[in-house]
Amino acid sequence: MHTLDPEKLPRHLAIIMDGNGRWAQERMLKRIVGHRKGVETVRYIVEESSRLGIGYLTLFAFSSENWLRPKTEVRSLMALLKRYLAGETPRMMANNIRFNVIGDREELPGDVERAVREAIDKTSGNNGMVLTLALSYGARRELLRAAAGLASDLAAGRVREDEVSENLFAGYLYTAGIPDPDLLIRTSGEMRISNFLLWQIAYSELYFTDVNWPDFGREEFYRALDNYQSRERRYGLISDQVRKRR
Ligand code: IPE
Ligand code: IPE
Ligand code: MG
Repeated sequence: MHTLDPEKLPRHLAIIMDGNGRWAQERMLKRIVGHRKGVETVRYIVEESSRLGIGYLTLFAFSSENWLRPKTEVRSLMALLKRYLAGETPRMMANNIRFNVIGDREELPGDVERAVREAIDKTSGNNGMVLTLALSYGARRELLRAAAGLASDLAAGRVREDEVSENLFAGYLYTAGIPDPDLLIRTSGEMRISNFLLWQIAYSELYFTDVNWPDFGREEFYRALDNYQSRERRYGLISDQVRKRR
């Protein structure tokens, strides 16, 4: 039915998973029910992406700003995350998925941090898709941390000023070693970036859908990938140049 070109899949897909709360509220349910339903979508998207051969999948699960939500919601999200990690690690092993986290991990509650560390350790020998969860993640903080790291290496003489390049700088980010996202999807109709991967999405294709995250299933996923495949990535060039390069 679907005719995706396997040669033209995003190597790195990033997703801002938004709209769990609204999904629940529209159904007169508590917000946490939407988050639970959202976890089912995560499971599907992770396994389908890995099956398709996408190399890197990065999911925005909890922002540095989300700590300011009502305490009860933060607490339920952390509990959900811990349960997800415990439940999913065997499936990550079965699918050869390597688990990774970006963000200020030290801000996570101790038990969640431990669950994160265990999932990373257990899956560290896998060489299939890299699944990265952005947890307590904010791009400006990431950039500041990178700038501070670089400044201290410069001051200590570990790096010379003439060595400073885009590549070198990228190595100070949480995403060091991960290619930039080719496609960034955001669900729930919001058309903003909300402090996600500001450096890394310089040339990403952006895709917005009105569908809330719990409803982002096979049909929506393939629609987004189809749409991505129909685009021409010009990187500042003109169309003729791009075609000649191919
Ligand atoms: C996204 O859903 C999940 C998180 C940010 C943790 P939201 O909780 O933001 O849902 P809405 O945007 O309120 O509908
Ligand atoms: C962005 O969603 C963060 C995550 C998806 C984890 P938010 O719901 O927090 O973003 P805003 O507040 O609408 O910008
Ligand atoms: Mg939201």
